[in-house]
Amino acid sequence: MRTGGNNTFYIHTFGCQMNHADSGIITALLQQEGYSPAESEDDAGIILLNTCAVREHAVDRIENYLQHLHGLKKRHKGLIVGVAGCVPQFQRQDMFSISPAIDFLAGPDTYRSLPLLIEQVRAGLKPAAVEFDSAETYEGIDPVRQGSISAFVPVMRGCNNMCAFCVVPFTRGRERSHPFSSVIGEVRQLVASGYREITLLGQNVNSYCDPEEGRNFAALLDAVSCEAPKQRIRFSTSHPKDISEALVRTIADRQNICNHVHLPVQSGSSRMLGLMNRGHSIEEYREKIALIREVIPGVVLTTDLIAGFCGEEEEDHQATLELLSDVRFDLAYMFFYSERPGTLAARTLEDDVPEAVKKRRLQEIIDLQNTISEELYQGTIGTVVEVLAESESKRSSQQLMGRTDTNRVVVFDREHFQAGERLHVLITSATSATLIGKPLHSGIHLS
Ligand code: SAM
Ligand code: SF4
Ligand code: F3S
Repeated sequence: MRTGGNNTFYIHTFGCQMNHADSGIITALLQQEGYSPAESEDDAGIILLNTCAVREHAVDRIENYLQHLHGLKKRHKGLIVGVAGCVPQFQRQDMFSISPAIDFLAGPDTYRSLPLLIEQVRAGLKPAAVEFDSAETYEGIDPVRQGSISAFVPVMRGCNNMCAFCVVPFTRGRERSHPFSSVIGEVRQLVASGYREITLLGQNVNSYCDPEEGRNFAALLDAVSCEAPKQRIRFSTSHPKDISEALVRTIADRQNICNHVHLPVQSGSSRMLGLMNRGHSIEEYREKIALIREVIPGVVLTTDLIAGFCGEEEEDHQATLELLSDVRFDLAYMFFYSERPGTLAARTLEDDVPEAVKKRRLQEIIDLQNTISEELYQGTIGTVVEVLAESESKRSSQQLMGRTDTNRVVVFDREHFQAGERLHVLITSATSATLIGKPLHSGIHLS
């Protein structure tokens, strides 16, 4: 039975960190208008899906979820269902045909109009707000954040690159950066509120350009790290073509900027990178990696990969495997290519690698990467790492989960430690994705 009132809302967030950050903005905007968050879907008068369109599978998940909500609406008269984020922005009015459960649509630049959209639904309409607004950065909105340890701070929205496989330029619109001063103001507030880790976010974070004085991402990162000297500073996601030497030196110089760079490569073959319109060759990528490793001792690198993009031959795939063996990334997010309607690839290239081949190549990539990750993680056994404790471990209430500065996940005995504390952990065992250890001395607190 629903216990919340009509003005309670529940948000399901799918997709990337930007979407999760946007859900915090939506929450703040709705609260300003007198709506209150519900504990669960069952308690809500309004259910909002904040959606992702990056791969077909992501859209399938939303469609399945809408079927479930359709059933829920039959039982709960008056329940309002809105679809926000990248899928409605991409599909526009056609989105309504996916499910009769949908009452309204809101694209990523229209969240300020959410209260109006809800009123319109109550007046019997099926509104859709899916216009781009290339000036919208939600400045002045103080997002409601999940948790009190780690905070995302979007520093830019949208993307001006046109990677052939990618839907994001069509769902998020033109790139726009937040003013330097407003990012610093937000960071100052987070420090005052006791956050321990701050992650600067953008689809292409290192192409940041301050709209007021033209300052670049290296300058922003440096300023943020000075403003929050006791906090860990992270950033995501960087584009290889926009990694500058100044940025790499800033990471090395500022002790609280984490020694982790997530640098999506997508393929190990220059021919594929050309077809993907990534704007760099694999040799240039390898040079950037060499620079990062030379300047930042102990840095950890992670990446994204796509198997079976249009025209990929066996030798291109072998080049990807070779790159993995050479670079030895700590971790990779690995996908097989999923054609997205409207993208450059869908319009100009043939999705010609058979699904079975895509999946076989992806599996080879995953197998190799898992072996490498496991070797790297096994190599840390017996070492001591500094961990920021984040939460209870999923497996046991007697253990906490945290991360190293290099973003490795560590599970360790709770003893008397609390989430939010920094401590030294002796690594005693490892899988390909997790380090397991014991706090070194219960007495040592680093914070
Ligand atoms: N902005 C980031 C960059 O430039 O690398 C990536 C953002 S994208 C949301 C995250 C990852 O999803 C990409 O790096 C890519 O590996 C993967 N991806 C994007 N479009 C895809 C598609 N059509 N099929 C499979 N994977 C895709
Ligand atoms: Fe997509 Fe490329 Fe933009 Fe990343 S940089 S969001 S992959 S278009
Ligand atoms: Fe997905 Fe949109 Fe992010 S398509 S990956 S939620 S920007």
